[in-house]
Amino acid sequence: MEKTFVMVKPDGVSRGLVGRIVARFEEKGFTIKDAKLTQLDRQLAESHYEHLNSKPFFGELVDFITSGPVFAMVLEGKDAVQNARSIIGATNPTDAIAGTIRGDYATDVASNIIHGSDSPENAEREIGLYFH
Ligand code: PPS
Repeated sequence: MEKTFVMVKPDGVSRGLVGRIVARFEEKGFTIKDAKLTQLDRQLAESHYEHLNSKPFFGELVDFITSGPVFAMVLEGKDAVQNARSIIGATNPTDAIAGTIRGDYATDVASNIIHGSDSPENAEREIGLYFH
């Protein structure tokens, strides 16, 4: 069994999508190991996304992710990182197929509803940032 970190972003929370998103992971067979509604400060946002700090959109990303509450989760399951990313869909919602969370609920890469860790190493790092 593997763990991954998944976070409903402020747009997903404000649009009332948390319940539907959690249900998708439960229906797939994930176990929720931990979860919380929380508001990121800039320090945590900048740590989480530090690998993107040279990107032109970094400031916009930090503004957005700190703009309202997020719903952070630790999910456990077989190949959890990869399976969660399949449910989430492509980063750019324009490329995300219908049936994925981003394919069904998002249109813009800057507000794409949900984050999921992209490797087991980053899952461990992100779980440590949010749940300690
Ligand atoms: S990159 O450039 O390929 O490294 O970035 P990418 O993997 O496409 O995206 C990484 C995260 O940055 C978010 N992102 C953006 N946020 C705001 N504005 C713009 N233009 C933008 N482009 C990408 C994207 O949603 C990814 O967030 P996470 O939370 O990691 O899914």
